[in-house]
Amino acid sequence: MIKKGNLYYPSKDFQKKAIINNPSIYKKAERNPVKFWEDLAKELFWFKKWKKGFVHNPPYFEWFKGGKINITSNIFENNPLGFDKIKNKAALIWEPEPIEERPRILTYYELFREVNRLANGLKDLGVKKGDRVGIYLPMIPEAIISMLACARIGAVHAVVFSAFSPHALQVRLQDTQAKVLITADGYYRRGKIIDLKKNADRGTKNTKVKKVIVVNRTDDKAYPVKWNKGKDIWYEDLTKNQKDYCKPEIMDSEDIFFILYTSGSTGKPKGCIHTCGGYTVQAKFTAKWIFDLKQDDIFWSTADLGWVTGHTYSCYGPLLNGTTFIMFEGAPNWPVPDRWGQIIEKYGVTTFYTAPTAIRMFQKYGTDLLKKYKFETLQILGSVGEPIDEAAWKWYFKEIGKNKCPLVDTWWQTETGGILITCLPGIGPFKPSFTGLPFPGIKFEILNKKGEKCKTGEHGNLIMLPPFCPGLLRGVYKNPKKYLDTYWKEYGKEIYFTSDGALKDKNGLIRIIGRIDDVIKVAGHRVTTGELESAITKLHFITECAVIGIPDEIRGEIPVVFIISKNKIKDIEKQVISQIRKEIGPIALPKKIYSVSDLPKTRSGKIMRRILKKLFSKEPLGDLSTLANPETVEQIKKVIIDK
Ligand code: PRX
Repeated sequence: MIKKGNLYYPSKDFQKKAIINNPSIYKKAERNPVKFWEDLAKELFWFKKWKKGFVHNPPYFEWFKGGKINITSNIFENNPLGFDKIKNKAALIWEPEPIEERPRILTYYELFREVNRLANGLKDLGVKKGDRVGIYLPMIPEAIISMLACARIGAVHAVVFSAFSPHALQVRLQDTQAKVLITADGYYRRGKIIDLKKNADRGTKNTKVKKVIVVNRTDDKAYPVKWNKGKDIWYEDLTKNQKDYCKPEIMDSEDIFFILYTSGSTGKPKGCIHTCGGYTVQAKFTAKWIFDLKQDDIFWSTADLGWVTGHTYSCYGPLLNGTTFIMFEGAPNWPVPDRWGQIIEKYGVTTFYTAPTAIRMFQKYGTDLLKKYKFETLQILGSVGEPIDEAAWKWYFKEIGKNKCPLVDTWWQTETGGILITCLPGIGPFKPSFTGLPFPGIKFEILNKKGEKCKTGEHGNLIMLPPFCPGLLRGVYKNPKKYLDTYWKEYGKEIYFTSDGALKDKNGLIRIIGRIDDVIKVAGHRVTTGELESAITKLHFITECAVIGIPDEIRGEIPVVFIISKNKIKDIEKQVISQIRKEIGPIALPKKIYSVSDLPKTRSGKIMRRILKKLFSKEPLGDLSTLANPETVEQIKKVIIDK
């Protein structure tokens, strides 16, 4: 890498070999973004070409209107790379959590057959195009097979993170009205076997799920699986006698491809709708250009399939590019803190894509642990999900990338389907704590509250202008009002509001400051104060509650909870914690819980979380004149100090 001032550029050698290395691509795309995306789309296989590239009826829009496509045809038999060229190469290398267990490697051809068998199995169960299928699986190959099998037959998958609670699963299954759920008997996590089937049984109560397909992951090692006759079916039994070819369903470009839930500004998660054509185009080319994917690469995105990063870069993006990728079942620091380093070396990973939380965790273990690693195969590093601070950026760049790998910080959202802000590895520049430039063809601006463009260095709201990106969400499932209110209200129906604060430097590089709504990013995962508060106030003895996000050294942000209870309750903290576990899952567990007698409020009764944040971090409180109950400030201060 070449350093010029505070900017880093790829070496001449890297640049020469990179897929995209000429900055003129930005100008070309800017001149006609629709044509830019259409030219890329032409490289894919379409059953029928689209009639119109982009159609805009604000706040709705369509991409590749009239086009017919199936993502699995583009991964397998009609892969533009030529299926014969890739069919016998490894598609995925699965590394199980138990070190003594053997990895599993699936070639493109093997994966193709597995996908077809399950697709035929799903059809036997009556699943048709447009039906919703829930997927509640750990990081095992069957999770990818399940997603692809749904895609093959045009069923809409809704993947639910396996560490989510039964309640979180149930809410999603109820909202999608899924008929079928695919799950596993259990899975390994930090040496323990988690009883996933039990959670799935609870989560399918009071839903429309008629059939539960169960993958045998643990072979009854920890407990016998409770079987619901007539409802449960082993994955193995469903697929073993199926034909290994299933005709791909011809999907309209704008048919729903998948629904993925994410936390919004209220208690209820939002089902982001992604469609077939636009998502496929964006997934393929963002993966190819940003990770410079070539045929001999070994790509490792550590994201779980339960999140959007898992969908686009731990599954569809690498597959569409005929890339070999790693899928890891466990935690990166289990059973040894450098398990992730072992995996990079073992498989010769060339691109490593992870989250700042993981980077900070690796950093905390110290560099002694890394002495034995040269990481010679690594060529590109990536970061995603939350702002990466300068110290973590520099550590990652030096200790893992050995000062030679471009470090692509990538900004995007569940809503955008794929990466939208980053610098391309063959072009740069890379600047610590700055995410980079909008991807070619994408128009971002930073606006102040009045809708005026911010000056260089000035904080404002990050927005996206038409024609947006092909993979942007098309709606919130069964909730058009939420779609309108969340994304198209702040600046009108033609400006996509990201809910992120940002600034630009003099080079046009964008720095993401963080969410401006009440979303907390815990270890890169989206949790809202609203959903936590509504989970906690379900406890009958809690009358009021406020949640704030505070900075955390490792996890980026972490919730802190303030509660008011009717009377003194024994073990109140334990009860709050188990309630959060039950309603949301372990990712949202708070750092501290404070029992208080009142909360700071405005005269209209709105809780001033801003003040709670300042009280917690012992910052000056500023103007308190809008408070209806200023006396609470001193009381809460005391509670915080006493604890
Ligand atoms: O606040 C931004 C932050 O994550 C939010 C989107 O979260 P989610 O939908 O869970 O998707 C995460 C993975 C794509 C954004 O609104 N965010 C994401 N990437 C970055 C980031 N913040 C700073 N830098 C990033 N690279």
